[in-house]
Amino acid sequence: MGLVDKTILTGVKPTGAPHIGNYIGAIRPALQLAATHERSYLFIADYHALNAVHDPEALRRDSYQVAACWLALGLDLNKTVLYRQSEIPEIFELTQLLCAVTPKGLMDRAHSYKAAMDKNREEGRDDPDHGVNMGLYTYPLLMAADILVAQTDIVPVGKDQVQHLEFTRDMAAYFNNAFLPVFKLPEYQLEKAAGDLLPGVDGRKMSKSYNNHIPVFMDSAARRKLVMKIVTDSKLPAEPKNADGSVIFRLYTHFAGNNEVQAMRDAFEKGGMGYGDAKQKLFEALELTFEKPTQIYNSYMTDTKKLDELLAAGADKARKIARETLSTAREAAGLKRLR
Ligand code: TRP
Repeated sequence: MGLVDKTILTGVKPTGAPHIGNYIGAIRPALQLAATHERSYLFIADYHALNAVHDPEALRRDSYQVAACWLALGLDLNKTVLYRQSEIPEIFELTQLLCAVTPKGLMDRAHSYKAAMDKNREEGRDDPDHGVNMGLYTYPLLMAADILVAQTDIVPVGKDQVQHLEFTRDMAAYFNNAFLPVFKLPEYQLEKAAGDLLPGVDGRKMSKSYNNHIPVFMDSAARRKLVMKIVTDSKLPAEPKNADGSVIFRLYTHFAGNNEVQAMRDAFEKGGMGYGDAKQKLFEALELTFEKPTQIYNSYMTDTKKLDELLAAGADKARKIARETLSTAREAAGLKRLR
């Protein structure tokens, strides 16, 4: 099967270990895109994280987690270039070039900045910019540079990132119109939010903020314990049950094959399957999906030197296209190409 001749780019903010909703909603689809397209880039958005995280140890650890996570879940380094944003200085110079063509008003309209101001207003503060640093304010510029530097065609994103992608296209067009058509205008591919896809163990949307999530990486005993905590009604094993109303069943549909899913549905609807048995089946399906990746993840996290090497090799590759794009942009604007 031929690959689609396009460039995919994904940026991941290091914000802690993923849960199975992140896996189904974001990680698996992004891996799928990477596997089916000609070029793909995946980077750790550590400079973006720095706006909020002022704890060097946490930033380092969370950055390793992103790399270990994606590698454990099947990212193919022969196919995808994996790197830290902070190891590509060309991105930051490109941010400066974009500053020169981007109206301030665009940043004023950014959702993330407006949300910060709304929060200050709600909390009754006099200063609407309280706690807003320049990193947060100029976030969309850096994100545009991340994307444009790699001449990206497609960015898989959640709903919250759509405006950033629209801004990126705006900035690319400002530059292209002011100078020469240097940048590709990227498109976004919308992913469903994890919480809209998967319920948590208490039946509400799966979310870390509800603390009802099932982590991707955990040892088998802990995983089993969590699955056994899933809420059910008090129907007896013999009673018929509504499969689609069961959290167990709804989770199971994402991790078992069609035949197994149908078998659980039948057993629920006809009666005869207890919730304990169903939980055991769900646990086994989760084990099959995540036991190996958990081992791989743990081994990377105890060998961060290996991760550093892999990330440095990725940065070398990413810098090739980044230098080329930046040189072309510099020249278009009347500056010297990079030497
Ligand atoms: N803003 C994204 C987030 O918060 C992370 C990110 C930074 C990103 N740069 C990117 C995503 C470029 C896609 C492309 O999740």
